Amino acid sequence: MIQTTSEIRQKFLNFFYTKGHLVVASSSLIPNNDQSLLFTNAGMVQFKEVFLGQERRNYKRATTAQRCIRTGGKHNDLEKVGYTTRHHTFFEMLGNFSFGDYFKKEAISYAWELLTSERWFNLPKERLWCTVYETDDESFKIWADYIGIPYERIIRIGNNNGNIYSSDNFWRMGDTGPCGPCTEIFYDREFDIDDSSPNIFQKDSDRYIEIWNIVFMQFNLQANGTIKPLPIKSVDTGMGLERITAVLQHVNSTYEIDLFVNLIKSIIKVIDVDNSTNKSLSVIADHIRCCSFLIADGVIPSNENRGYVLRRVIRRAVRHGRLLGTKEVFFYKLVAPLIYVMDSVGEYLKPQQVYIENILKKEEEQFDKTLERGLALLDEELANLKGNTLSGETIFRLYDTFGFPVDLTADVCRERNFKIDETGFREVMNRQRKRAREASCFNNPLVINISSVFKGYNCLSLHTTVQLLLINGQQVEKITVGQEATVFLVETPFYGASGGQLGDTGIFTNKNIEFNVIDTKKYGKAIGHIGIVKIGQLCLGDHLYVHVNKIRRKRISLNHSATHLLHSALRQVLGSHVVQKGSSINDKYLRFDFLHFHAMNPQEIRKVEDIVNLQIRRNLTVTSEIMDLSTAKKKGAMALFSEKYDQHVRVLKIGDFSIELCGGTHVRRTGDIGIFRIRSETSTSVDVRRIEAVTGEYALEEIHAQSQQLQEIAHLIKANRNNINKKTYELVNYIRLLEKELQLLREQRIKQEIKLLIKKTITVQNTKLLVSEFINVDLKTLRLLIDDLKNKFGSVIIVLATITKNKVLLIASVTQDLIDRINACELITSLAVQVDGKGGGRSDMAQASGTNTQALASALASVKEWVNTRL
Ligand code: SER
Repeated sequence: MIQTTSEIRQKFLNFFYTKGHLVVASSSLIPNNDQSLLFTNAGMVQFKEVFLGQERRNYKRATTAQRCIRTGGKHNDLEKVGYTTRHHTFFEMLGNFSFGDYFKKEAISYAWELLTSERWFNLPKERLWCTVYETDDESFKIWADYIGIPYERIIRIGNNNGNIYSSDNFWRMGDTGPCGPCTEIFYDREFDIDDSSPNIFQKDSDRYIEIWNIVFMQFNLQANGTIKPLPIKSVDTGMGLERITAVLQHVNSTYEIDLFVNLIKSIIKVIDVDNSTNKSLSVIADHIRCCSFLIADGVIPSNENRGYVLRRVIRRAVRHGRLLGTKEVFFYKLVAPLIYVMDSVGEYLKPQQVYIENILKKEEEQFDKTLERGLALLDEELANLKGNTLSGETIFRLYDTFGFPVDLTADVCRERNFKIDETGFREVMNRQRKRAREASCFNNPLVINISSVFKGYNCLSLHTTVQLLLINGQQVEKITVGQEATVFLVETPFYGASGGQLGDTGIFTNKNIEFNVIDTKKYGKAIGHIGIVKIGQLCLGDHLYVHVNKIRRKRISLNHSATHLLHSALRQVLGSHVVQKGSSINDKYLRFDFLHFHAMNPQEIRKVEDIVNLQIRRNLTVTSEIMDLSTAKKKGAMALFSEKYDQHVRVLKIGDFSIELCGGTHVRRTGDIGIFRIRSETSTSVDVRRIEAVTGEYALEEIHAQSQQLQEIAHLIKANRNNINKKTYELVNYIRLLEKELQLLREQRIKQEIKLLIKKTITVQNTKLLVSEFINVDLKTLRLLIDDLKNKFGSVIIVLATITKNKVLLIASVTQDLIDRINACELITSLAVQVDGKGGGRSDMAQASGTNTQALASALASVKEWVNTRL
């Protein structure tokens, strides 16, 4: 009996559950607080701190089916996806983890039992091979003596090119972080492939498929390339769900497993193609998974970082849709079938289905425009190309300035037999990245390796020591007057911008030094204070008295607490579909973005404002508590679904009204907020609404400003507070009346003018020509006149002009039958030159304006001759 992908996923989790593992939910695709990773790319990412011994959980064994993305970062396979039998952007990684609990023997035995036991996956033992790290005798022995795999099917694999810790059998998370030797299990598909060299595992072999990687986490890789032992020995395993399913379903490609077969069937229906083996279908099937889950985890298409990866993947999918022949916007229609085929994992997408669809739809519509423009530019470049290779500079320019994705440039060039200078492009790109990196602290190994203790919930000033000084990302020993730098302290009361809350400002001093902090940022576990030395010289190891700008911090805290009240109030008034999509909290106002499908009406806005103000008047106590994530969730704490949270989280409670996970700073009681006022409600993108609001003094100022505005308007229209509505209404009606009268007058005037104009018409070589000047007539009237005249004559050349506000306006119009000889655009250009102006338009209608009013008469006089020579 063939097992479905869903059944296989569940079986894996059940197996480890019976072995005492806690089934932990997949974390977000966006790793929180980990600057070294763009996307979650393995099951271990959510446990990184546990491996490092920086965090403890109340369980020692866990199992997960983790959503992963491997594109855009270190593992950049986008080009290959869809064209090979097993590359994907998005996949699920099944894993079991031991945190200082079992180690090699149990990990290997569990894997063997699950793979081979009749009760579980029941794979033939003789088809399984394994690899171990060259020097890992212990694992070799376990496989050989305890499990009983023949020696010849256990391969030792050493370091690549002799580079220590760089081996297929030494797994590392990145350039730094947890790592260790690993053992991998391969499945022999017994293909008719004559390939039996021991190195087969290091190649992309079609016969031997790697199905499971078991890592023995033992070390922490340092930025300088050395390793330090970890406090506990752990296990991290990873098995691609799609791969093991292909093996268990006896198919050659992961695109042939039930999940993809069903998804591709739905795509065929939506796109209406008849070639079901077309590779573009695999591309689209892969990409709809990647894009939907990325959007569900909070990414939106943009030109930077994660948003840009998402944009590229959407664009690649859309282009493959176009290659299959669809002209319609289609990609968003695949979200519903995806939810269906992903079964229990699809449930995660359901609440956001409409949102995901809208984002995809809008992006595809927008991309159609970029595609048109980009292709035109590329056409031009290729037409002017000397030789047959498009330069790296050009590819970069198309990408950087015009947003035309590199893989599309590559696709188009491939289709038209042009080469692209990929190396050149990478060089230009790297140069630009390096420039950006040098100015930044993110990804800086010096910063990744330190941490700062935040003390700012309870105190705003303290004595502390400087632990790192950076200028443009480079470490320095000291900084002097006028220099801008980022300072890292051992302890700090300064809040580093995060969770939407702005970073603190303030001052560092001691006897001889003054350093002004203009911003504070969080880089992983470190807090960086960006500022300028005002007095003296600041050195590494200096002891300082540091204090936060109290007034500013207080204002920020008012806005942060008010944001929580607003969030709960919105859910009360609009419904529980309201989820936070982003926020920005500073000392002047707060901004809150949330999911909601329509603009709010004034009653709803009022209701939300009233509820928040009521909570302020109730003067509720604000408390915080650290607890574990599952307890927090049980208590109903709202969390940003797109964030990864630590095991222990800070829960912020405002009386009985709001409970949220939050690391920010807040008021002690809601009464401190004083007053809350919504300033605007707008939209930022499809289905995301944005509220801007103010609190405290700023709210009061807002109210004063509005009342002053009202007074001024009242004064202007000679009304007072009591009759301002009535007066405004009367005024509007009066204006409408005047407009109607004006329109009537215009029409009458046109009728009269037309009579006169008909008389003025002359004939040049059997063609009617009308040239006339008016005094002070607006463009709209001139155009109406032209329409009427064209209707009357059927065939005519018209030039009308007027002088208003010391400027010449000219319109030329030609009926369709004459445009091949008399082009209105050329005619107007010849006149524009004469009146010192500029003009343009279409061949049947064009207009110009100029500054030389004196020259108008002679310009108009020239028309007859101009026409005469062209007829
Ligand atoms: N972290 C290892 C991998 O990604 C095992 O899960 O292969």
